[in-house]
Amino acid sequence: MTTSQTPAAVPTLTQDELKTLVGQAALKYVVHGEIVGVGTGSTVNKFIDALATIKDQIKGAVSSSVASTDRLQALGIPVFDSNSVEKLAVYIDGADEIDGQGHMVKGGGAALTREKIVAAQSTKFVCIADESKLVQTLGKFPLPVEVIPMATQRVMAQFAAKGGVGKVRMKDGAPLVTDNGQHIVDVTGLQIADPRAFEAEVSQWPGVVTVGVFAFQKAQVCLLGTAQGVKTLEF
Ligand code: A5P
Repeated sequence: MTTSQTPAAVPTLTQDELKTLVGQAALKYVVHGEIVGVGTGSTVNKFIDALATIKDQIKGAVSSSVASTDRLQALGIPVFDSNSVEKLAVYIDGADEIDGQGHMVKGGGAALTREKIVAAQSTKFVCIADESKLVQTLGKFPLPVEVIPMATQRVMAQFAAKGGVGKVRMKDGAPLVTDNGQHIVDVTGLQIADPRAFEAEVSQWPGVVTVGVFAFQKAQVCLLGTAQGVKTLEF
């Protein structure tokens, strides 16, 4: 991993201000005249707001969730179906955790499946995050897994055999339903030492739609909001 940093130190900023900072910094990775891949979450919302200021210089976006689509369209940014675009130069998204190799845990906003799809069609993944997201080993944040509802008990039993404790994510007293009509199991108690092997294994369990480990679709760049400014990590 190589690290570089903006020269000027910034005064103490809130987490929200750090998100704004990295959201704005991500604009320099947007290729003018092209379609940009857009993730989901509170950090990406800052990026979408910044993107609106250069909307005349891009064709539009491929979005990873209904929430991001709504925000993009409300700001006048055209949203394209992922099937209508063969390749994207860049995908910008947040993370719940990122390690020193660019592997991530994602899905805190329940959008992991579409995020992985758009990341897979993009040449470069630029992760935007505040420094609380940087970890040595993935597993501190509960691991989101999108699961077909009839398989949640079985998948949780498989995680239990690995020392993890799974819980179906709830919303308003009922299991949360994703944009794809599935449920989310959040798993605590894991130490993911080999993210690629872990992702490959769990992705094959019956009923798993998407596991929130992004090792095959890892980040090439991370713009990290820190008290010293935006750090650029390259993997
Ligand atoms: C959405 O499903 C997630 O993968 C987000 O990218 C992740 O949870 C980061 O979100 P925040 O930027 O809101 O922390």
